[in-house]
Amino acid sequence: MKKSAFVTGADRGVGLALVKGLLNQSYQVFAGQYAEEVPQLAELKDAYGERLQVLRLDISSDDSVAEAWRIASKQTEQLDLLINNGAILGDIGASVLDPLNYTEMMDVFNVNTLGSLRMSQTFMPLLLKSDSKLLVNISSEAGSIGDCYRESWYAYCMSKAALNMQSKLIHNGIKPHGGRVLVVHPGWVQTYMQGKLDAGATLTPEQSAASILQLVAARLSEDAAEADCEYVDYAGNALNW
Ligand SMILES: NC(=O)c1ccc[n+]([C@@H]2O[C@H](COP(=O)([O-])OP(=O)(O)OC[C@H]3O[C@@H](n4cnc5c(N)ncnc54)[C@H](OP(=O)(O)O)[C@@H]3O)[C@@H](O)[C@H]2O)c1
Repeated sequence: MKKSAFVTGADRGVGLALVKGLLNQSYQVFAGQYAEEVPQLAELKDAYGERLQVLRLDISSDDSVAEAWRIASKQTEQLDLLINNGAILGDIGASVLDPLNYTEMMDVFNVNTLGSLRMSQTFMPLLLKSDSKLLVNISSEAGSIGDCYRESWYAYCMSKAALNMQSKLIHNGIKPHGGRVLVVHPGWVQTYMQGKLDAGATLTPEQSAASILQLVAARLSEDAAEADCEYVDYAGNALNW
């Protein structure tokens, strides 16, 4: 049977590159589109037809996630792979000695931490019906408490650390059912997450996505019952939680 995958935050960057990579690997792909119009996704839809379903998706909204579930669950009976990729950065300048924007921080938490949980919890029935049962949370090295060196980036770092904890909790919950969670830092990637192209970054979105999909392929060939919840970078190097 053809494998199916769902990628959130597929408008651009790593998410769009993951969608392209999965289509190239013959997956049936559900792509969560956040912005109203995304020409790249429309072009992919023209090229791949039924193999790509583009769904409007705001992971910060209960209703939007429920609507995505309603549509996707009519189109597939199982989901092999859910990649929680969508995220926002928030302020990266203020330290504890500066004014902090709590309203914005709650928005970042709602997207980065609760958005992933909304998706994972909602789509878990479909995921657990598949053979693969693989949940991939795109986190960041910025979520590592052990290796924290920053003194700002409050919302982002805390939201990703909480995502890491969430990943462990979900892993513990689904391991008895044959599921597993892989937490991935995608590397330093040339995307627009900081509001403008981060041209100094070391990886293109395509390079990052290709490496992540290699990690996925390797995990799919292993016995999930034996697996721990891993926190690795795009090259597969273990990170400190
Ligand atoms: N770039 C890096 O160096 C780096 C490093 C470490 C970790 N990461 C992680 O990698 C992942 C991908 O980031 P990226 O670098 O590719 O940045 P990006 O291009 O900004 O991608 C983030 C995606 O999330 C979407 N999004 C924003 N708010 C959303 C919402 N409420 N619901 C659903 N989707 C939403 C964005 O849509 P719009 O573009 O339409 O706003 C965009 O498609 C993120 O989880 C990020 O934290 C990136």
